[in-house]
Amino acid sequence: MSRPTLRTEFSERVGIEYPIVLAGMGPVAGTGAPTACSELVAAVSNAGGLGVLGGVGFSPAALSEEIRKIRSLTDKPFGVDLLLASNFLMPRGKAVDSSMKGMSFKIPSEHRSAIERIAAEVGIELKKAPPEAGAMGSWLEEGKSWAGSQIEVVLDEEVPVFASGLGSPAPFAEALKANGTTILSLVGNVQGALHVAAGGADYVVAQGTEAGGHTGRIGTLALLPQVMDAVAPTPVIAAGGIASGRALAGVLATGAVAAWCGTAFLVAEEADQPDLQKQRILDARAEDTVVTRLYSGKTMRNITNPMIEAWEREGLMALPMGLQAALIRDLEHSAREAGRSDLLMNAAGQTSGMIQKRRPAAEIVEEIVSEATQILAEGLGARITAAI
Ligand SMILES: Cc1cc2nc3c(=O)[nH]c(=O)nc-3n(C[C@H](O)[C@H](O)[C@H](O)COP(=O)(O)O)c2cc1C
Repeated sequence: MSRPTLRTEFSERVGIEYPIVLAGMGPVAGTGAPTACSELVAAVSNAGGLGVLGGVGFSPAALSEEIRKIRSLTDKPFGVDLLLASNFLMPRGKAVDSSMKGMSFKIPSEHRSAIERIAAEVGIELKKAPPEAGAMGSWLEEGKSWAGSQIEVVLDEEVPVFASGLGSPAPFAEALKANGTTILSLVGNVQGALHVAAGGADYVVAQGTEAGGHTGRIGTLALLPQVMDAVAPTPVIAAGGIASGRALAGVLATGAVAAWCGTAFLVAEEADQPDLQKQRILDARAEDTVVTRLYSGKTMRNITNPMIEAWEREGLMALPMGLQAALIRDLEHSAREAGRSDLLMNAAGQTSGMIQKRRPAAEIVEEIVSEATQILAEGLGARITAAI
């Protein structure tokens, strides 16, 4: 059978076959390895989509090694996703200290007591995490920022596509473009979209609240046309809740030039996720995901668990990103020590309810593409009468 044809302005510009992008997804459950790892990135790119590496947790040396690994697995275009959140842009020594010890002094006592209560409530003994566990940026050179050091690698390696998951690409846009890199920037509202478009994004990725991981409050179908109108002529990629050809056809019909899909690939064979995390996604209904600030301080959609529920009952304001991670470090460490991976981060979107089986990423791409193509090429005319 011949391969279906599904092309957009985006697929033509980046030189891929289909307008499907594997979302850059970083590490979950304290594994250190990103879900969107080199194997998954290469598998999606080889299948005709665009694989994007979840690069946020890598030191510069590890990032360049991972990029080289991708290149050894595919000769197709791929991308790297990093978080340009403000604390990741601050030079070491000036702002958020990379030592968790420094951070722990700024944690309010009511938050500390809440952590003790949560541990008791979920039935784990609270143990002190060793100093090196999760320590942020021990590789960071004095005066350099986390994200800035990673971007140097993206530039050196001449990565075809760069995605900023949080924050504007402005500080690096000129250098990236001079290097021939296409820039994608994720946003969850119109204000963010205007900010990243002004900051040099070639494509704005409008991500609806349905999405797994960090997410906003507006649904994908409500968000897309508003972002498109606000940033035109900058093209828009749709994200959040797209895990089928029906959804891909729908967002292409709104004018989006591609879909950025995360949850669709979470249980792919190549995805680097612990088994239990994959199983919980397979078992989940759409209602089983909730938005919480527990893990990072920012709103993040996860499969719910007793630790999230206990945190929400406390009714505390989350601490800023970085500090919140420091706050829950002992709690996460203790859960891991107790073998309670069911309490760890398990970022996933509302489409978890339709993810039924583990399979190779190529099969996922093929299914989404053939369903979308079928609808766009034949199905709509058969079901809908429209005339002008
Ligand atoms: C496990 C997981 C990890 C994620 N990590 C990142 C990340 O490191 N950087 C980023 O820009 N987005 C991250 N996201 C969000 C995705 O990039 C994407 O926007 C989202 O998954 C799209 O919605 P969907 O899950 O409904 O497909 C993550 C999402 C998940 C599910």
